[in-house]
Amino acid sequence: MWKKLNQHRIKERIFDALQKNRGFRGENVLGLPASFLDSKVFSPDHALLDNAPFLSTMVENPNHIGCHTLDQSEAYFEGTHVLEREAVRICAEEIMGAEANSCDGYVASGGTEANLQAIWIYRNYFHRDFNAEYNEIAIIGNEHTHYSTAKAANLLHIKWATVKTDPSTMGVSIEAIDDTVARLEKEGVKYFIVVANMMTTMFGSVDDVNLYVEALTERNLTFKIHVDAAFGGFYYPFSSEDTQLTFENPRINSITMDAHKMAQAPYGTGIFLIRKGWMQYAHTKEAIYVEGQDSTLIGSRSGANAIAVWMILMTYGKFGWHEKIFVLQKRTDWLCEKLDANKINYFRNPSSNIVTIESSFLMKEQAAKFGLVPDNHDAPNWYKIVIMEHVEIEHLEFFLDTMISEKLVS
Ligand SMILES: Cc1ncc(COP(=O)(O)O)c(C=O)c1O
Repeated sequence: MWKKLNQHRIKERIFDALQKNRGFRGENVLGLPASFLDSKVFSPDHALLDNAPFLSTMVENPNHIGCHTLDQSEAYFEGTHVLEREAVRICAEEIMGAEANSCDGYVASGGTEANLQAIWIYRNYFHRDFNAEYNEIAIIGNEHTHYSTAKAANLLHIKWATVKTDPSTMGVSIEAIDDTVARLEKEGVKYFIVVANMMTTMFGSVDDVNLYVEALTERNLTFKIHVDAAFGGFYYPFSSEDTQLTFENPRINSITMDAHKMAQAPYGTGIFLIRKGWMQYAHTKEAIYVEGQDSTLIGSRSGANAIAVWMILMTYGKFGWHEKIFVLQKRTDWLCEKLDANKINYFRNPSSNIVTIESSFLMKEQAAKFGLVPDNHDAPNWYKIVIMEHVEIEHLEFFLDTMISEKLVS
């Protein structure tokens, strides 16, 4: 059970974990190409650090290279690896519905890396187990899928294609999937990596993954499904009962979640989760100087980032997180009621905190003034509002009043 801890206990666990690491201070650690943070620049000031477990971890500078849910990994920083494993377990099991001990994972640099890691694994799987040529493998996802998937295709020398969405629902249809798949099949593609979205970047839209399963199964094609929940992972499972994009659905093989978005963790806290047995496809056996070698894309990474995610999860607990999302849902509902009353067109998935307004209802200057993000900086069709912790009703009210009183609503 994911239960919250008080601040005293959180501090105690982190300092205990740091003690269990073979820290650089006062120990005979002669062979690592690293040390604690430069003390002329980052003074290890006890008055400050003794009450600041995250900053203390930054200063102690543990390296979390590798994947610590696997059997073997670097022994030097085992103390803080334990907390990373706990954070990964909570994400996989308590949030994404996986069975106990059924997933591997790690704290990646972000959503881009976690998506790349998944796609890299599936490309290698199709190549190694099916003798697939790279040009016989394609990534598919709806047209609002994050651009990191295009980056992955470019890096991994595989194909990338989008599936058309219906602008009124932002969803795909079987026919649209069929169109994309048929075109790719004509180009010789036989293996598909589906990226399904749990809240897209611009619209917060959520894919009906069963449509992909139906379309690809009907055509007797081989495919794997990765869920991009970089934004939605810390939101949607708490605002909706829908489990089709979690590990409760046996078709879902891996998930990206970003703690540095909805969970307000520092940047560098993407979460990569995958069912056990799959990390081997990203295993770099040539990493011979690393204990357990390396099955991640990134290599060296800060243990402080993993500690930050663990601290956030432990501060809230499952019920606290539900409450946090409940408040954001209420604020988003409030905004949507006002937009409806003023006949302003927008898109919102009812379980999301992203509200995307049609650009004809706003002037460019107003969007800029309120920091609204366009879908396309050169020719905006939409502007989004994301109801984060700092976006309160008063801010939304001021935005709406300005929009209406200045008669910016066309
Ligand atoms: C749905 C989705 N996936 C992936 C990413 C990439 O995340 P990052 O910028 O952390 O690499 C984003 C970023 O906005 C996103 O919204």
